[in-house]
Amino acid sequence: MPATEILKQHLIDPEICIRCNTCEETCPVDAITHDDNNYVVDAAKCNFCLDCISPCPTGSIDNWRMTPAAFSLEDQYSWSELPAQVDLGDVASAVEAIEDEVDALLTQAHAGAGGKSVAPSSALKPAINQFNRARPAIATVIGNYRLTAPDVDNDVRHIILSFAETPFPVLEGQSVGVVPPGVDDKGEKHRIRLYSIASPRHGEKPNTYSLALTVKREPHGVCSNYLCDLKKGDRVKMTGPFGATFLMPNDPAANIVMICTGTGSAPFRGFTEWRRRTMPNAPGRMMLFFGARRPEELPYFGPLQKVPETLLAKHFAYSRVPGEPKTYVQDMMRKQAAPLAELMTSPQTYIYVCGLKGMEQGVDAALDDICRGVGLSWAALRPDMRAGGRYHVETY
Ligand code: A2P
Repeated sequence: MPATEILKQHLIDPEICIRCNTCEETCPVDAITHDDNNYVVDAAKCNFCLDCISPCPTGSIDNWRMTPAAFSLEDQYSWSELPAQVDLGDVASAVEAIEDEVDALLTQAHAGAGGKSVAPSSALKPAINQFNRARPAIATVIGNYRLTAPDVDNDVRHIILSFAETPFPVLEGQSVGVVPPGVDDKGEKHRIRLYSIASPRHGEKPNTYSLALTVKREPHGVCSNYLCDLKKGDRVKMTGPFGATFLMPNDPAANIVMICTGTGSAPFRGFTEWRRRTMPNAPGRMMLFFGARRPEELPYFGPLQKVPETLLAKHFAYSRVPGEPKTYVQDMMRKQAAPLAELMTSPQTYIYVCGLKGMEQGVDAALDDICRGVGLSWAALRPDMRAGGRYHVETY
């Protein structure tokens, strides 16, 4: 078989894909399309620009097969799982050359955060995609509490969902899909929306299949308004769980630095609650940098006051407090350069960024300055931490 006939084909994993349409919206050459069953990539159109890779919330987009003949759209529509890599026998070296080329492109696609995302080495192995649109888990609302002050426009809610007897295993940092009822103005079913889990692995109510979500009501938001208006006893169709990399280290000696804005705090509430409930005296340190307009708009402001500083060092950054300078999380990080720099020198330290996409660059610049201050190179450390599952970025 001549090397020129081998193709590295871009494919979407139907088992993990949540059919959110992000890839189809992102693809500049319309290579991605879907039917009622699957999202698929047209090998004749895909130009390997990889624009679709980083926006995909589940990583299902990041799949490749070396094949002597392209899988057709019809093949892909019929799949319920990806086909195994076929044995390409004596063309192994040609295959390697093509793989290296695509790996180099993929490294660029993941460059914003310093390379492809991997889980912390001590993280537990998560369950993924146990429930989907065709077979959702049905959750019952057991709580819906406002997290921001009643007199501010910003309505952010803590919504607690119970799966009762249905096992729905999750880890902190994973997400779940919510299937909003009804159809859009074209008569199509609403897309599934993804939300980070805000509770620890053993449940929002300990030792039950229950979880919490942190949801901000968005103007005209189909799913956010649906969720924020839910009442106790209402039932919700859920999919997932999703996510296999933005997970907390299981090692109690791991230091965890968490940087967030707004509802980006959800996974960090999960991380903090797991430590607070099960290992309040863990040797690993936890630091939180949390940005909001003002205290009244900071989700979990009240509950966070009760978490002891010995467990969680809290640094709030407020951007719109009258009479005070505008402060962002990256400004607070620079103020805490000394303890942060000390943590950066430890191989036991894990950094997580979650929230507004806009903060990514500012946080990166702050880490660069903090490292330089102690003779470290963030440019060198970042890909290392990334490859070791110690630097995680989830922004939107
Ligand atoms: P701003 O006052 O400039 O909007 P929320 O989601 O509740 O609006 O909170 C987001 C917080 O993140 C706000 O305080 C917002 O400030 C802040 N923010 C906006 N842009 C950036 C950025 N580029 N870097 C860091 N924080 C940001």
